[in-house]
Amino acid sequence: MKHIDAVSHTRGESQYVDDMPQPSEMLFAAVFSSPVMHGKIMALHVQDACSMDGIVAVLTSKDIPGENQIGPIIQDEELLASAEVCYVGQPVALVIGTSPEIARKGVRKITLDIEQLPAITDPKEAFSKGNIIGSPRTFILGDVEAAWKKCDLVLEGVCDIGGQEHVYLETQRARAIPLEENNLCIYSATQGPSAVQRHAAKVLGLPAHNIEVDVKRLGGGFGGKEDQATPWACMAALAAWHTKKPVELVLGRADDIKMTGKRHPYKSDFKIGVTKEGKILAYEASHYQNSGATADLSPAVLERTLFHGTNSYFIPNVKIFGVCCRTNLPSNTAFRGFGAPQGMFVIESAIAKVAEKLGIPREAIQTKNLLKENDLFPYGQRVRNCRSLLTWNKAVEKYKLSEIRKRAENYNKTHFEIKKGIAVMPICFGISFTTTYMNQASALVHVYTDGSVSVSTGGVEMGQGLKSNIASIAAKGFGIRDTRIKIESTNTTRVANMSPSAASATTVLNGNAALIAIGQVLDRLKSMVAKELGVQEKGRITVVNEKVLCDGRETDWTWDRLVQTAHLNRIDLSAHGFFATPEIYFDKIKEKGHPFAYHIFGTAIIEVTLDCLRGAYDIDSVKIVHDLGRPLSELVDRGQIEGGLAQGLGWMTIEDLSFNEKGQLLSGALATYKVPDVYFMPDDIELTFLEDEGNTLGPYGNKAVGEPPFMYGIGVFFAIRCAMRAFRPQKEFALASPLTPERVLLQLYAE
Ligand code: MTE
Ligand code: MOS
Repeated sequence: MKHIDAVSHTRGESQYVDDMPQPSEMLFAAVFSSPVMHGKIMALHVQDACSMDGIVAVLTSKDIPGENQIGPIIQDEELLASAEVCYVGQPVALVIGTSPEIARKGVRKITLDIEQLPAITDPKEAFSKGNIIGSPRTFILGDVEAAWKKCDLVLEGVCDIGGQEHVYLETQRARAIPLEENNLCIYSATQGPSAVQRHAAKVLGLPAHNIEVDVKRLGGGFGGKEDQATPWACMAALAAWHTKKPVELVLGRADDIKMTGKRHPYKSDFKIGVTKEGKILAYEASHYQNSGATADLSPAVLERTLFHGTNSYFIPNVKIFGVCCRTNLPSNTAFRGFGAPQGMFVIESAIAKVAEKLGIPREAIQTKNLLKENDLFPYGQRVRNCRSLLTWNKAVEKYKLSEIRKRAENYNKTHFEIKKGIAVMPICFGISFTTTYMNQASALVHVYTDGSVSVSTGGVEMGQGLKSNIASIAAKGFGIRDTRIKIESTNTTRVANMSPSAASATTVLNGNAALIAIGQVLDRLKSMVAKELGVQEKGRITVVNEKVLCDGRETDWTWDRLVQTAHLNRIDLSAHGFFATPEIYFDKIKEKGHPFAYHIFGTAIIEVTLDCLRGAYDIDSVKIVHDLGRPLSELVDRGQIEGGLAQGLGWMTIEDLSFNEKGQLLSGALATYKVPDVYFMPDDIELTFLEDEGNTLGPYGNKAVGEPPFMYGIGVFFAIRCAMRAFRPQKEFALASPLTPERVLLQLYAE
């Protein structure tokens, strides 16, 4: 099956929030935001804006009837700043006008008197001043202090890891429609419809059932709409509540980049100890997360940095410390990988340091430390169905790593200013929300009397192919054609209390919920036919290809007849299914538990060519062996792997977020912030899937695929570094990302 939206996307017919027909009298909102990094609001002047033609209202924190609070984990985030602003781009006032242009003009008429306060952008500085969010966390295994003495080599280092802008094609947006008696319907581009419902209700001082949130699809979310779609939806709702008119709020690209959070930059210190043979005996890391101005999802992101701080390696003595540091930048947030990429980058950097010191390739250290079945993670879970060595060995053999190496060495011997570099990147990524209670989902399934089927789940389609996966699950589950299945929009009145679509777990959770609902309807239908056929156990009845079989033999019952007869017999053709991932838990006091249902493994080999005169590089090839499970749609999963890889490669190389000393983003437009395009991506991407073993927890043996491939991209950093070292073997290079061509050049020629 191909991606359900493939045709309508290609024709430009897929509808997003602002493609729906506009209700008459719709108004448009625009946001006035803080021009400074940190300051006390002394006065806000909105009069000039208010008196403009076409401006209907200007709303500030004083106009919020409920609570001015939208923090998802910690209550530290106002919808509209009331007394203090903490980053450039923080929303302060909402201007509502008769057109988007007029509303934006109104924004430019607002002024603010501000008493500026000192600002911090560096996480370590924030930490040293006590500006932290929540409590620091430490994961411990064994005893690092005792282990250092047993090591033949102990090295220390620092990493400086850059952030990343989501660049979803569809910027943040919402449309709110006022309904009778203080009810509102919000069309939101959110990964978390229930979060929008909860916060809009809170802001308006209404019960949640007054707010209906509907999501058809997103033009990409990548984590950036897990939580940060909420403010815009709440603002549209606030405006609709005040004006009693439909209100749409669409952020332009510049506002979106300025006002929303990104992947967290980190500063991290590490210490690693190895034996002569290259066994890692001890590893210590301290991660200073640049959380930005508010908590947002930062504590959860930090937690995943710790969970994945040793990537695919077993290290007997580990101490990983992490802390969320509050700075005066937009609040950083979820982004594909959710903190894991930063944790993995640091351990891979530590391994690079050791390999460089010993004068051997990184893989010589990596292979000696890969996870084996039953090894213990620092968080107390044992590895099961470990495919670390399996994917590694398969990649090394199938893609002939030793030949790739030899070719590169020969090339480097005969070329002076152009060098090849190679890196191998294994990944191990845990599947489940690390906040255990979030691992639940519901579905609502209706079978209509003509045999067509409607499925609603709590999952959001954001391009990842969720709808295609659910449709394929539903068709398989009922034993009917997939054209019978329609996947409905995600709506809080059909499915309540949803977890966000995130953590790569959307298909696993919602697909299982759908299967449970389908099972209920099917059971009723089977009981009915069994009776009609005079068969004792309904278990002997199956539906295959729209035909009803008994003991595997065809009967004269079809799907159509089955459904029609059931209706005439007054049998319920609808069901609600609920799924909660079994056997997961985590104790945050002991920092031990079994947080993940399972892990995804894989190995990538990356080759680059570096022009050492210009600093420019080409990624020649990426060759991957990925632990896929049984795909519901191989094409969709392939898309996820290539897309995730592209984002990972971009994060490490060309995606450069630089702020000036005033906290203004210098790369605040797509002219200056570069993302990988088709020319940047390697011509040669090879994918090999392990499909031999299905996943017992996933619907039809399916495994999560959304985030893990992102982390293959980390390898490119070490491939480029390898080429840099071929050119300047004696030089020490920084472990700082992104490794842009400019930074490569500067480092190659730095004195
Ligand atoms: N793929 C597309 N096309 N668009 C997206 O926004 N988000 C990623 C990933 N792949 C995303 C995507 C992120 S951050 C996650 S967590 C998963 O998809 C979420 O969907 P899943 O749980 O169905 O894998
Ligand atoms: Mo994905 S970062 O979990 O939305």
